[in-house]
Amino acid sequence: MRTSLLPGTDLELSVIGMGCWAIGKTYWWDDVEDATSVEAVHAALDAGINWFDTAPLYGEGHADEVLREALSGCSEQPVIATKVGVMFQGASGHAESKLDEAHLRADVEASLTRLKREAIDLLQVHWPCQHGTPLEETFMTLQALKAEGKVRHIGVCNYGPDALDELMSYADVVSLQTPYSLLRRELEQEHLPVIARHGLGVLAYEPLCRGLLTGKFLKEPRFPDSDLRSRDDRFSGRFFTHANRVAHDLGKFARRLEVPTSAVALGWVCAQPHVTAAIAGAKTPEQVRQNAQAHRFIDQPEAVDVIEKILHRHRRSRPQT
Ligand SMILES: NC(=O)c1ccc[n+]([C@@H]2O[C@H](COP(=O)([O-])OP(=O)(O)OC[C@H]3O[C@@H](n4cnc5c(N)ncnc54)[C@H](OP(=O)(O)O)[C@@H]3O)[C@@H](O)[C@H]2O)c1
Repeated sequence: MRTSLLPGTDLELSVIGMGCWAIGKTYWWDDVEDATSVEAVHAALDAGINWFDTAPLYGEGHADEVLREALSGCSEQPVIATKVGVMFQGASGHAESKLDEAHLRADVEASLTRLKREAIDLLQVHWPCQHGTPLEETFMTLQALKAEGKVRHIGVCNYGPDALDELMSYADVVSLQTPYSLLRRELEQEHLPVIARHGLGVLAYEPLCRGLLTGKFLKEPRFPDSDLRSRDDRFSGRFFTHANRVAHDLGKFARRLEVPTSAVALGWVCAQPHVTAAIAGAKTPEQVRQNAQAHRFIDQPEAVDVIEKILHRHRRSRPQT
């Protein structure tokens, strides 16, 4: 597995990290079995994946518990990147970001307890505050948690360029976690200057577009209500048609290279010079093993060209987002 240094840190991350949202179960279909999730984590380690992305929100701590169980007894502990701030608001069932000092501290302590760690390797603000807390309070608190040794490095997810420029003056933020895939490239229009200005690492989430880029959905899928994709517009209509055309051609190319389609889609993400690593979600050992093959694309500009040509071929069916 290829690795890449997260700028401003000593974290040498495998270019594919394992995303743990699905193994938290809630929102990702309730047929996910914890025993299979544990095997998936072990498959990730065996494939050279050395970091995991989790969050308090993922199954309200369940993803952390599964991860901790899977890692207990491992002689070499991987990097754990987790998040902070987002919580369910009582009975409303809506998750909201609360970023005042008291909540940040309580959330970090709860994560340390669940993960059985003394410090969090990379703590990322999950999404911008919805309770009016100024950036200064939030990021000065995170900087204090770093000085206290509870947090090794600070990152953010889902912030726009202006907020990034401001918050960088309050804390040593090293990374931006943001959606990025063959089907979602807003990062290139919106964030590249701010990333370069501050030397941020980029951790690409949803790199398979929630499974669309694996090519496995031959027609519009029907998901149960328990799967968040039952409410995701991208799994129907024009977006689905476009995604499927792209995935179909990626599949043909993948067969020529004798790799899974998911590896081609992830390989394109990992090969982008502004990306440090892609966070691939997975539920089973087999999915992990397929996704881990993506690192083979990093040194293959010809393969990346072929993938760009596939996108170009289908540009007319691409819906405006
Ligand atoms: N910071 C944020 O706000 C944020 C937001 C979203 C995600 N994330 C992070 O990014 C990670 C990845 O994003 P994501 O999980 O939403 O989407 P994703 O990685 O694009 O898709 C993951 C899903 O695709 C399917 N899949 C994965 N590998 C496959 C394979 N080889 N063959 C067939 N199907 C496969 C699995 O679902 P099925 O088997 O059910 O199809 C899996 O749960 C998350 O786990 C989380 O850690 C962060």
